[in-house]
Amino acid sequence: MTGLSDSFQRPIDYLRISVTDRCNLHCTYCVPRTGIKLMPRDTILTYEEIGTIVQAAAELGINKVRITGGEPLVRLGLPQLIRMLAQIDAIDDISLTSNGVLLAGYADELKEAGLRRVNVSLDTLKPDKFKAITGDNRLEEVLAGIAAARSAGLNPVKLNMVVMAGVNDDELLDFGARTISHEWHVRFIEPMPVAGGRTASQFVSVNDMKKRLQQLGELVPCLPSVGNGPAKYFRFPQAKGTVGFITPISEHFCFGCNRLRLTADGKLRPCLLAEDEIDLKQPLRSGISSAGLKKLIEAAVARKPLRHRLADSSVPKGRPFSQVGG
Ligand code: 5AD
Repeated sequence: MTGLSDSFQRPIDYLRISVTDRCNLHCTYCVPRTGIKLMPRDTILTYEEIGTIVQAAAELGINKVRITGGEPLVRLGLPQLIRMLAQIDAIDDISLTSNGVLLAGYADELKEAGLRRVNVSLDTLKPDKFKAITGDNRLEEVLAGIAAARSAGLNPVKLNMVVMAGVNDDELLDFGARTISHEWHVRFIEPMPVAGGRTASQFVSVNDMKKRLQQLGELVPCLPSVGNGPAKYFRFPQAKGTVGFITPISEHFCFGCNRLRLTADGKLRPCLLAEDEIDLKQPLRSGISSAGLKKLIEAAVARKPLRHRLADSSVPKGRPFSQVGG
């Protein structure tokens, strides 16, 4: 198999699949202030339809998938989808991004179904702030979810912290310190101004984050233990865990982009931050052949733009992140 590559010779081997636009939290950086109109249920792909798409994509060279949302665990029977995808020969890495709220109840079953690892959004360790960011009081459940994922062997559990000025940036050092004392793998993320611009005034650059974190010691570059994402990893001397940085704004990582995205309503998105979409749902429901499906996937790959323009304030207006999976 030669695999997929786009018109800029980037190899494309990774598919992120949003399985629902619904979420049990409403984080300020994800949900627009105006709220979200939920997709009608019959527009959402069934697990069988997702399986058909992943099978075709795998035959073209996709070998890694990540399940996202909304919050993927609010969709009933998620382990069933994982089990189905795990049976596809070429797929050798299945991961999940979750807010962690429901994770404790699912971790063992997900592992047993074939899930390899999980990333959990964790923006604060303070209950009142958790409520202010996410709209609900569920920090304890998230921490229990993280612990359950670890003991189920969904490792490494990576924690995503969107760092927002005046909101949670006072906790940078707390999170950094935990990567020293515990096997915590924290990724600090620059907020992207996508949720109706709500985070525009809260931007903190990774350079700024690093300067502050260096109070804890030297940040020594290291390789990621697993993964295929854009984070750059570091470790404090003698630390048990790692620190990662994701810089969508201050240093875009589009040149290494290896991914396609599938929305919950069955559109392939060549780029998270561009509006272009290729519909797979209608063709699927009209009985398209596997060869036809593959042509559409190849077309989406060919339409990947060179890079996003967020730093020039070009923000896609169509869908909130909650529909595309972050
Ligand atoms: N800016 C940066 N990261 C975001 N995420 C979601 N919305 C944003 C945003 N506006 C990230 C969160 C979450 C992942 C799914 O996407 O870290 O963990």
